[in-house]
Amino acid sequence: MLLCRTIAELRRQVAAERAAGCSIGFVPTMGAFHEGHLELMRAAGRSCDVVVVSLFVNPTQFDRRADLERYPRIETDDARLARSAGVEVLFAPSVQEIYPAGFATSVHVAGLGDVLEGQHRPGHFAAVCTVVAKLLSIVSPDVAVFGQKDAQQLAVIHRMVSDLNLPVRIEAHPTVRENDGLAMSSRNRRLSPDDRRRAVALPRALAAAAAAIERGERDWSDIRNGVFESAGGEVDFEYLEALDPSTFSPVDAFGSNAVLLAAAAHVGDVRLIDNLLAQPTLATEPPAGSESDRYSTSKEAI
Ligand code: PAF
Repeated sequence: MLLCRTIAELRRQVAAERAAGCSIGFVPTMGAFHEGHLELMRAAGRSCDVVVVSLFVNPTQFDRRADLERYPRIETDDARLARSAGVEVLFAPSVQEIYPAGFATSVHVAGLGDVLEGQHRPGHFAAVCTVVAKLLSIVSPDVAVFGQKDAQQLAVIHRMVSDLNLPVRIEAHPTVRENDGLAMSSRNRRLSPDDRRRAVALPRALAAAAAAIERGERDWSDIRNGVFESAGGEVDFEYLEALDPSTFSPVDAFGSNAVLLAAAAHVGDVRLIDNLLAQPTLATEPPAGSESDRYSTSKEAI
């Protein structure tokens, strides 16, 4: 596996792979790899001949300085894991390489980028879109793979790629979960053992809300209140919303269309997000399995 620190090195390597007739798959990351990242890398390897992974902790997308400072940075371990997942090129640039003096451009996806996470973390998606647009321009991949755990990020990037006619196909990969249902995230490693135990209340709350919708319950505020009550204060919800999966606008009257349940919650000083798709058309039949069965496999699509 080749490690590139500069844009020029990375571009030279990609040009050589292309000249050899190889297609390029790309996974943008902020490092601290877990099985979820490795699944994205393997998926890129199934779609393309050569996999490029970027490892860049993008400072502009953190709304709290403490969060940026605490973000895990373990490049040597990451490089080893990326190699084991079949990655050919790891691009780990410095902040100056990505944001040289005078950098002044921002990509803002209006609407979709302003609600939910965009509302709770103003400027977050402009920062994500700017760095992703820049990375796509540097790497020029055929395919870029993103996880559905960050469902809104995925939707915003789809919009940006379509609006700017960027020549890349975006592939979505299902959320990878621990056996108890907690979505894998680099932030999980900051949970204390007690907070890790409590964090499972987040996917359980989503599963309970999805099961209620699929049972035919129709009053979202009743469902949400019930879920908050049974979560019993284990986690501190910032939001729990039922949304149209393509527009991210709130849905309060459930019809036959799928509903995206999205939540952010604090456990100790760690902020976690997660989401799950609920399908109201299942209303006439009991949902398959119990709420906890929903997470009995390590992989679960939103
Ligand atoms: O999902 C992430 O890890 C980041 O938001 C991304 C896409 C690498 C941009 O910094």
